[in-house]
Amino acid sequence: MAPKPTVLLTEPAYPEVVGLLDRHTNLTVGNRGHYNSEDALIEGLKGMDGLLCMLSNPVTAKVIESTDTLKVIANYAVGYNNIDVDAASRRQIPVGNTPDVLTETTAEGTFALMLAVARRISESERDLRDGNFDGWAPNAWLGFDLSGRTLGILGMGRIGQALARKARAFGMEVIYHNRNRLPDDVEISLGATFVPTVQELARNCDVLSLNCPLNEETRHIINGGIFKLMKKDAILINAARGPVVDEAALADALNKRLIWGAGLDVYEHEPEIHPGLLTAPNTVLLPHITSATFETRRKMGMLAAGAVLNVLCGLDMPCNFVNR
Ligand code: DGY
Repeated sequence: MAPKPTVLLTEPAYPEVVGLLDRHTNLTVGNRGHYNSEDALIEGLKGMDGLLCMLSNPVTAKVIESTDTLKVIANYAVGYNNIDVDAASRRQIPVGNTPDVLTETTAEGTFALMLAVARRISESERDLRDGNFDGWAPNAWLGFDLSGRTLGILGMGRIGQALARKARAFGMEVIYHNRNRLPDDVEISLGATFVPTVQELARNCDVLSLNCPLNEETRHIINGGIFKLMKKDAILINAARGPVVDEAALADALNKRLIWGAGLDVYEHEPEIHPGLLTAPNTVLLPHITSATFETRRKMGMLAAGAVLNVLCGLDMPCNFVNR
């Protein structure tokens, strides 16, 4: 019998996913955070046929070119900015990711973040737990309605569109900016209006939600100049990738009250948080959890494992490749 292919799963994952990989491959499971550096990945990939990695693992050209055994890379995420896909393609290594299965969950998590900021959920709950609740008060913890306000979505892919549908159900107006304008029928069914620039989007919305991928075009697309254009009572939501926002400029904008609040699920130097954000007013900080439901994390893991098992074992499992 042919030996089983070798696979590195860089962190413990959903048990069913680990079990599946373990049955079909000679599996190594890394410790949490160990493979967050190029050097550790280069070492860990020696002799490996497959890699199932986390979005925190830098699968750079240097890492990919260090191995001549690697035949497949799969990311436990839909976003794959941590992987140099061009370098993988040059080596004819397919790169898998996890689209679709997390769309509604991530949009729902993003909506929860919007509500949490607008209605001051985290802050007021912390205050109650601190023993400060002394009964209903007309002026306590005032926030904003979402209904009747305008949501600006930057990045109208699957998650942006799911968010638009939820926002419409909440009675929000929706405007969006995207590299490519959506077809008319899609715009009509979403009830979303295209605006041609990020500046116009920022100027005209009450809540600005970032749902775009991270690439050289979107890195720091939200910066000090944008905060100056936003309304004083606007809220920024980032559930995309941290470096889309210039975090120092955001901390400054919040502390100087250029904008009213922010809800963040992702950070520029994750897992570090800019100290100015920790003390900023009306700011909700989540630990990258908008896709974190039992069912969705299981499905994401299965899709990523499917890519690995498809390439290495010829198993016909659902999977998605971004470069083939
Ligand atoms: C992704 O899949 O890219 C998300 O950030 C995971 O939550």
